Amino acid sequence: MDSSEQQHCKKLAAEAAAKLVEDGMVVGLGTGSTAGLFLSALGRRISEERLRISGIPTSDQTAELARGLKIPLTSFAEHIQIDLTVDGADEIEAGTLYLIKGHGGALLREKIVAAASKRMVVVVDESKLSERLGSLVSVPVEVVQFGWEATQRRLSELGGSPALRLGKDGKPFITDGGHYIVDCAFGPMENPKEIAHHLDHVVGSVEHGMFLKFASEAFVGGRDGVKILRKTTG
Ligand code: A5P
Repeated sequence: MDSSEQQHCKKLAAEAAAKLVEDGMVVGLGTGSTAGLFLSALGRRISEERLRISGIPTSDQTAELARGLKIPLTSFAEHIQIDLTVDGADEIEAGTLYLIKGHGGALLREKIVAAASKRMVVVVDESKLSERLGSLVSVPVEVVQFGWEATQRRLSELGGSPALRLGKDGKPFITDGGHYIVDCAFGPMENPKEIAHHLDHVVGSVEHGMFLKFASEAFVGGRDGVKILRKTTG
């Protein structure tokens, strides 16, 4: 799939998901290019249909985009539960709907928002689908800056071949929360739950990009339109 085709597929998925938003909802707003297309579609519905919603953004970048599109924002101080979150993913395992997220650097807020959501819809193009989690991308792990070398060593003991993420300037990439990201290439995983369990207990790690129990459905844009995937196992 070339990049214009991929863009088209992302847009199909994002626009289909935007139709799920109903008047009065609190909506979790994801981060990344596909989530950005969802925001554009949602912004259009707000202005054309006078839809009244409140959005909780998963990154500073998404908050800025939402403000530009005149999507009203709120926070957890006002709304402790989210009706619907729409977010992208870097990889999604068919069947289980297990996700790897965080290649855009927003995994911590994305997971907090996903965990507070009644329903999480993942919007992807079909290139993100895999048969076994870890086949396509590494797992981002957000770590505190202090002692990151020791945290990285622990991640390496878990078999993650960790690499500190660098920004375009060659300096360590810093998240919205002020942390580093260490990308861990585990390869195709036989037991994702076990790896996630180990990652949950790494001292110095704030959160990791394996989202195993959050996705309710996936809207997958492809050449033949949008397919809606539901969990069949896991
Ligand atoms: C952000 O941290 C990620 O979890 C994104 O959701 C993910 O990178 C998907 O982004 P694209 O829609 O740009 O592929």
